Amino acid sequence: MSLFHRKPKVSTDSMRNGVRLIVAAHPKSPISEQFRTVRTNVEFMAVDKEMKTLAFTSSSISEGKSTVAANTAVAWAQQGKKVVLVDADMRRPTAHATFNLNNTIGLSTVLASRQREFELGDVVRPSGIENLEVITSGPIPPNPSELLNSGRMNQLLKVLENHFDVVVVDAPPMLQVTDAQILAGRVDGVILVVRQGVAQKNAVRRCVQLMKMAKANLLGFVMNDVNSGDGAYGYGYGYGYGYGYGYGDDDDSNGKK
Ligand SMILES: Nc1ncnc2c1ncn2[C@@H]1O[C@H](COP(=O)(O)OP(=O)(O)O)[C@@H](O)[C@H]1O
Ligand SMILES: [Mg+2]
Repeated sequence: MSLFHRKPKVSTDSMRNGVRLIVAAHPKSPISEQFRTVRTNVEFMAVDKEMKTLAFTSSSISEGKSTVAANTAVAWAQQGKKVVLVDADMRRPTAHATFNLNNTIGLSTVLASRQREFELGDVVRPSGIENLEVITSGPIPPNPSELLNSGRMNQLLKVLENHFDVVVVDAPPMLQVTDAQILAGRVDGVILVVRQGVAQKNAVRRCVQLMKMAKANLLGFVMNDVNSGDGAYGYGYGYGYGYGYGYGDDDDSNGKK
């Protein structure tokens, strides 16, 4: 039985209703186990370098970034880590809907504010899940790229890194706008969500190139919506060969080894 009902691939459903927190609702399900595998794989990557701030992105919209980011954040919280989930996809925000929070304040308001100091308490809100707090997107601003590229965003991430064990950034998609490229270079690691049937191979390749240019640390790929053949839709964690950057020019394996 699938936990998901199949929907048209590009939908606005998650903006209205939020994403499904499978790890919270069904912690013992195989899908939750896969999110824990994403968590563990990121932890393995943290041997040489601390992985505190992680961004989830994808080539296009509706590939499952918000679903994977939120569920992996819950997996960290369940492990006892203090986690904050930041909804940085200001054009297609979901976190407020996922956690039933109003979105009148959030990332956009704190980035646009002229106040010098951050009052984290104003913007970081409880998610209802132990150890997990949320910064919703705030009202959709006219200039998301500018806000995410601001010195203030850098400052905010620094403050969050001091307060939390893990900062999970639900980033915008890579290809349409420059928002995600900017973020990708700023965080400790980036995970690319690749949805079967949605992601185009050339688009994924372009993403990898852009990340290289942004000097981003691409940790790996989450292959989302991989048809396991039994009618269930799952999440599989796959690495491009090498450290992700090898989503190769002559590679036909779709990022999987
Ligand atoms: N593996 C999956 N199987 C079925 N539906 C999925 C899957 N992953 C995501 N979805 C659904 O697809 C839609 C888009 O997912 P979302 O996480 O909001 O994507 P993004 O943040 O990349 O735009 C949502 O309605 C979500 O519930
Ligand atoms: Mg999203």
